[in-house]
Amino acid sequence: MKLMIVLLLSITFLFGNELNLVSPDGKLTLTFSLSSAGEPYYALNYNNTQVLKAGRLGIKIKDDPGFFDNFDISEIDSTIIDESWNPVWGEEKTIRNHYKELVITLVQEKIKQRHIKIRFRLFNDGLGFRYEFPKQEALSYFIVSDEITEFCLTGDHTVFWMPGDYDSNEYPYFTTKISEINALIGQKHTEISTRSIIAENAVQTPLMIKSTEGLYINIHEAALVNYPVMHLLADKQRFILKSELTPDAVGHKAYMQTPEKTPWRTIIVSDRAEEILASRLILNLNEPLVLENTEWIKPQKYIGIWWGMHAGTNTWNYADVGNIKLADTNWEKLQPNGRHGATNEETKRYIDFASEHGFDGVLVEGWNVGWEDWFGNWKEEVFDFITPYPDFNIEELTRYAAEKGVRLIMHHETSSSVTNYVRRMQSAYEMMNIYGYETVKTGYVGRIIPRGEFHDSQWMVNHYLRAVRLTARYHIMINSHESCRPTGLHRTYPNWLACEAARGNEFNAWSEGNPPEHETILPFTRLIGGPMDYTPGIFQIKMDYYDKNKKEQVHTTLAKQLALYVTIYSPLQMAADLPENYIRFPDAFQFIKDVPVDWDETRILAAEPGDYIMIARKGKNTKNWFIGAISDENKREFKITLDYLDQDKTYLASIYMDAKNAHWEKNPMAYKISKYLVNYNDSLYIKLAEGGGAAISLTPASEEDKLNYQNYQKK
Ligand code: NOJ
Ligand code: CA
Repeated sequence: MKLMIVLLLSITFLFGNELNLVSPDGKLTLTFSLSSAGEPYYALNYNNTQVLKAGRLGIKIKDDPGFFDNFDISEIDSTIIDESWNPVWGEEKTIRNHYKELVITLVQEKIKQRHIKIRFRLFNDGLGFRYEFPKQEALSYFIVSDEITEFCLTGDHTVFWMPGDYDSNEYPYFTTKISEINALIGQKHTEISTRSIIAENAVQTPLMIKSTEGLYINIHEAALVNYPVMHLLADKQRFILKSELTPDAVGHKAYMQTPEKTPWRTIIVSDRAEEILASRLILNLNEPLVLENTEWIKPQKYIGIWWGMHAGTNTWNYADVGNIKLADTNWEKLQPNGRHGATNEETKRYIDFASEHGFDGVLVEGWNVGWEDWFGNWKEEVFDFITPYPDFNIEELTRYAAEKGVRLIMHHETSSSVTNYVRRMQSAYEMMNIYGYETVKTGYVGRIIPRGEFHDSQWMVNHYLRAVRLTARYHIMINSHESCRPTGLHRTYPNWLACEAARGNEFNAWSEGNPPEHETILPFTRLIGGPMDYTPGIFQIKMDYYDKNKKEQVHTTLAKQLALYVTIYSPLQMAADLPENYIRFPDAFQFIKDVPVDWDETRILAAEPGDYIMIARKGKNTKNWFIGAISDENKREFKITLDYLDQDKTYLASIYMDAKNAHWEKNPMAYKISKYLVNYNDSLYIKLAEGGGAAISLTPASEEDKLNYQNYQKK
């Protein structure tokens, strides 16, 4: 139901050019003001605590006076909206969108009545605002040279940051005071393929902040369309974060043509960390669904010919040669290296395994020609996305998969030669339709072509979305790796199932990896923008199993890998390990088989960035609940209440926990599984090892379960 009231009276005018807007629940107050020089400012309060001091708003324009001063207010509009909508897939069935809106039209009288609008939406859980440039005589085309939006924090707060970088979001997180930010630490992360660190004081969004007063503040953006990614530059003495837009190859930030608007700048605020994770502000600020028919969009679980390449037992390439020219190579004549992963035999083995264990998809990487010298040469014609290697019979394999009720997942690694991909993507998607591929994983490893562009520049932001729109036309779902981080556009385009766009589990296979706290920070940072293809589920945790000289390991216990299916939300989840490792631990594998990828309800039971996360979710159209709890490098105990269960039902709780002596480094694979009968008024007590986790499934107990299992008792 939509309730729209023009609410001018609820805005308080203070002196002259200052106005206030209060959130529906009265907790947040936005103050907008114009200085005597006509400069717009905004500030934000949470109850009686200042969240943001007055910070500047505005846009600089190339060869022009710009949009940041000499303004007068010419019009004020306000509205209140309270409605609900149902996402195609998500963390809950229904999302409430409840906010007060204030739109201020600012005019530059001296510059031919040029005007812009600043649209504020104040929710109970935070603020979004954007700049709008209406079509008008005095404004058609312009080039943004800088955005001067400031976020003026009130003290030397704790921040969970990663280095500001125009090309990569694959860093681990650092936790420091604002005054201690030093993005140059990112320079030692040579395991990241392409890095363009912006400056010593640059950080990325979503940025998670814990204030000295204990407030949780998250800064990001929503609906990033036709504009570059916003990074932040920290003034470490004054605790001001200023917007830093990603430039293009010639140093410009954005090319605009009116009517046009920027993405929303977002500030989520609460005195409880759990509320940050429960916030749907970013989704609410995005446009509603634009796809007419969404029946072909399906959340899915998949396996893949993939981890073997990261663990070093397989290769993407067919032959061990270099200096390949795509057009001139006779692939049949190359000498196979004997370790190629994407073979007919191996693909059939994966299809069989997927079919037997109920997976929807099988990703096959390295199926297509060009991997011999795909990386590091800034080469344009790397892949054609349609020619399989001689040992991959695409016709036979897609037929075999269909017979077994499984779909192959397409892989398009572009190696960041985006011009090449743009020329070929349409025929590649046509081929997917012919062979019945429903999902594509794209990848952008390496330096961008057009040369000089960054992964985060306006041209690339437009490219990622162009791929989403084009795949939608072909009824193809998409999962983009090394793309810019998401901003909630999956509401509008739900075929964009997931992105990687952060440091995934794969880093653990071949680098110093992700520290045990990594997955306790991701939900507060990267996941604020949308689902991540993190690729959890690694059971064989130490890599010396494959090669005794290897020191790498996943910084986790086995039980924690299970919990990640609940704590890292995504409608696309991989069981990332090799099938042979799942066969070694069939009882633990059962959780991965059971856990849904689409939900009716989500409860954030406990959360603290950098420390722990505990979430309960109810599977879509079922009575089943699943709980995931994870810890950082410390061990922890939790009491879990079950008051959300149906009161008239007994449930069977299957508890997958770290064994007593488990430890992410010393004994990561020790787990135990126990089963009990429970009711809504029970509480469960769980222990997480250092770097550990717990996963629980709760299903209505059958008569047989009631005979076989005992009631839960605290041990
Ligand atoms: C990086 C991706 O994140 C990874 O999943 C993929 O296997 C490699 N690129 C190769 O495309
Ligand atoms: Ca990656």
